[in-house]
Amino acid sequence: MSRSLLLGAARSVRLRSAVERVPVTRRLVNRYVAGTGEEDAIRVADELVTEGLAVTIDHLGEDTLDAAQARRVGDAYVSLLGALHQAGLAADTEVSVKLSAVGQALPNDGEKIALEQARRICHAARNAATTVTLDMEDHTTTDSTLGILRELRLDFPETGAVLQAYLRRTEGDCRDLATEGSRVRLCKGAYDEPPDVAFSSRAEVDRSYVRCAKILLAGPGYPMLATHDPRLVEITGSLAARYRREQGSYEYQMLYGVRPDEQLRLVRAGERVRVYVPYGEDWYGYLVRRLAERPANLSLFLRSVASK
Ligand code: FDA
Repeated sequence: MSRSLLLGAARSVRLRSAVERVPVTRRLVNRYVAGTGEEDAIRVADELVTEGLAVTIDHLGEDTLDAAQARRVGDAYVSLLGALHQAGLAADTEVSVKLSAVGQALPNDGEKIALEQARRICHAARNAATTVTLDMEDHTTTDSTLGILRELRLDFPETGAVLQAYLRRTEGDCRDLATEGSRVRLCKGAYDEPPDVAFSSRAEVDRSYVRCAKILLAGPGYPMLATHDPRLVEITGSLAARYRREQGSYEYQMLYGVRPDEQLRLVRAGERVRVYVPYGEDWYGYLVRRLAERPANLSLFLRSVASK
């Protein structure tokens, strides 16, 4: 099954209900997703923080259909941030927000609605003494997301952004964002993109990742190096040393359920490592993107759904 077909399956309602019914695939969901409720996210964050890891929590939800739903997603984040503060976890736990979940794709006022909800979330994060990072989605949203980031940073300069190394434009975006006080998460990129906007070979994406990491690590901002790729973890470690970065002046980030031993190895080596923890009812699209990255999980998934 091709990556684009698989990413298309992210929208299939029938496949989603099959995944929920099959115990093996249910276990795969549990590996990558904290659970469906706020209490699940808090429990998992607590476990990870106890192990010395930092956390960023994503409330899952992508296809927001109207302003009322965007507001409900905003409410969920405000509630989550209050709960993190109460649980004493806010020093090590921030939140990640997909602007599509707070209305960015809605016709007419989408950007305005998303900015309004993102502002509410940033406000709640500031009250809880923590931060927000805006996830990055497919390339058609990059300009809009960076525009909303600029607006938010006028009042909340601590707001972070994600840049995707597979996009041809990203080196330039890294230069623009490698400034004092900025927080930038660099990842490879998880969407199916056309070749005129994105590098298609793994080698090109990896080379772009290294060029972007150099720009971010050489600059005065706070780079967040999101990858599980052993080669890139090693290379970024050497680059951090080359640019005389002290541990804690940058961080590694990995996904919940992916290379947990490596996460702890880096912590033991004195590195700051943040784990991206998703939770919520809308876990399906997220799971399919993770499966697209991991052929071994994908074949397990297909075999168990087909045998049902
Ligand atoms: P790569 O895919 O080459 O994987 C390297 C190795 O890591 C694999 O060989 C395997 O061992 C392990 N691995 C990777 N994925 C795995 C999986 N799903 N299950 C099990 N093992 C796996 N993307 C995006 O477009 N927008 C965003 O906002 C974000 N945000 C984000 C936050 C954080 C904290 C992370 C770590 C990643 C993202 N991503 C993302 C996803 C990112 O773009 C990318 O798709 C994945 O991180 C996989 O790329 P790697 O760099 O890990 O390399």
